[in-house]
Amino acid sequence: MEKMEKNTDHASVTPNKAVMEVLSPENCDAVILDNGRTINNFIDNKIKELDSLDNEPFYVANLDSVFERHHRWLTNLPRVKPFYAVKCNNTPAVIQMLRTLDTGFDCASKGEIQMALSLGVTPDKIIYAHTTKPGFHIKYACAHGVDLMTFDNEAELLKISQCHAKAKLILRIIVDDSKSLIRLSSKFGARLDTVEKLLERAKELGLEVIGVSFHVGSGCTDSLVFKQAISDARHVFDLANLLGFQMTLLDIGGGFSGREDFQVKIEEFSEVINGALDKFFPPESGVQIIAEPGRYYVESAFTLVVNIIAKRVDMDHPDGEENSSNKMVYYINDGVYGSLNCLINDPAHTSVTPYLHKAVDSSKQRYWSVIWGPTCDSLDKIIENYWIPELEVGDWLLIDNMGAYSVSITTTFNGFEKAHIYPVVTAETWHALNLSHTNGIINE
Ligand SMILES: Cc1ncc(COP(=O)(O)O)c(C=O)c1O
Repeated sequence: MEKMEKNTDHASVTPNKAVMEVLSPENCDAVILDNGRTINNFIDNKIKELDSLDNEPFYVANLDSVFERHHRWLTNLPRVKPFYAVKCNNTPAVIQMLRTLDTGFDCASKGEIQMALSLGVTPDKIIYAHTTKPGFHIKYACAHGVDLMTFDNEAELLKISQCHAKAKLILRIIVDDSKSLIRLSSKFGARLDTVEKLLERAKELGLEVIGVSFHVGSGCTDSLVFKQAISDARHVFDLANLLGFQMTLLDIGGGFSGREDFQVKIEEFSEVINGALDKFFPPESGVQIIAEPGRYYVESAFTLVVNIIAKRVDMDHPDGEENSSNKMVYYINDGVYGSLNCLINDPAHTSVTPYLHKAVDSSKQRYWSVIWGPTCDSLDKIIENYWIPELEVGDWLLIDNMGAYSVSITTTFNGFEKAHIYPVVTAETWHALNLSHTNGIINE
């Protein structure tokens, strides 16, 4: 609790024209923090504004964080071009920022391809990374010049031969996902003992296979799984080369956490990945390496700000402690059917730690508390057994690390609207972006 300093300065909410042109052409409303103003200033002012209006929940999306993470990626994995997984968070300002930084994009459907294209992403920067696609989505990709796509089964090869015969195919293989919080290999990927047959079938159908992909699972806790996965990919490359395919692309998927408090950081993954790439796919092999990071870019960039809309004091006591305090019961205006869906959907994000926006005297008495979401469903619980100072209706709480698989999964169950997203960027970062462009560091 009481993590944010209280600051009453007014942040500028009027982006200058240059920033609007690159970061937010039409539909992104990024706010520029100039004159040293901070995100905390922005949140303070937004809360003041909302206090006199609707008290709706909102996100602040810190685009500086996305920018910094990108530089950290380039520093640690210089050979691996990131194709951001749009499914993780499809906020237009995030996509604009990454497009400006020249990343590629992993899209999972026609809808995501459509969105990326509408935000200025060019088709050659998109991989349609889904191994089981509806035929008409493949036709859409074909019609819009998106050629790169994954497969892991024979029926998909047949479908692709009918819907996009000139596609450039990436064979997704099963790898060890047992060290990840969300496992994917039970649903996607070809077993190693089936790949030869699949490649032969692709040959018969006249299709072009150009690479191999894998995903170690989301929220990977052991960097070593990448070593075996890259070695397995080498084996498939060799098989495919023997069959006459020109293999030019390796896609090492996602799985990297975006939280600073996660047990494995990108630096540790990089050590293993870079070593394995140098051994199995050295630079002189000419193979292009890409990845599909989602969480890594956005998880810590989004803070959710919620309001206490109701309060009850219950007379029951924790664990029969007769002399302890009453239980404080709070209801906030966002919950597990909204922004906090991770609590029921995401094994990599099963708890949150809300903290009070306003300053609190740390010596204040703490009460046994529970916080519920706003819907009429008892599954909609945010946190219980939480010992915090007494809160009041109207207080604002902040929840960090809310950027991954949140906004893209939110519902409006019970008629509660989705939290508004306010992307913010400092003037310094904006100038750095501009410089990157004028110096030709970023090629568009
Ligand atoms: C095919 C594919 N690529 C990339 C991702 C992104 O994974 P992460 O957010 O763990 O980086 C996912 C997540 O489910 C995925 O299914």
